[in-house]
Amino acid sequence: MTNTRIPGLGERPPVEFTFASRSVVAQAGDSIAMALWATCDLTLRQSSRDGAPRGVLCNMGICYECLVVVDGVTVRACTTLVRAGMHVELGGKP
Ligand code: FES
Repeated sequence: MTNTRIPGLGERPPVEFTFASRSVVAQAGDSIAMALWATCDLTLRQSSRDGAPRGVLCNMGICYECLVVVDGVTVRACTTLVRAGMHVELGGKP
């Protein structure tokens, strides 16, 4: 998977977690949303209305477009920091 980070810019310790059963390496202090953006995973859930892909919109915890499920709990990807070993799955309904 492509990594879109700018080389050498603010590199921090790696944090490994899974997204949709695939291993992802983020950096400590990344939100889930930013970690997945960096690997070009832009779809975080599907619309309950028409199944359309949904992802980060406001990136500040207001719109709830970025819901994902972390270890069985629904959270906003833009306001939740990555943790080593966490299991992130596509989110449910807004
Ligand atoms: S992108 Fe709007 S709440 Fe996360």
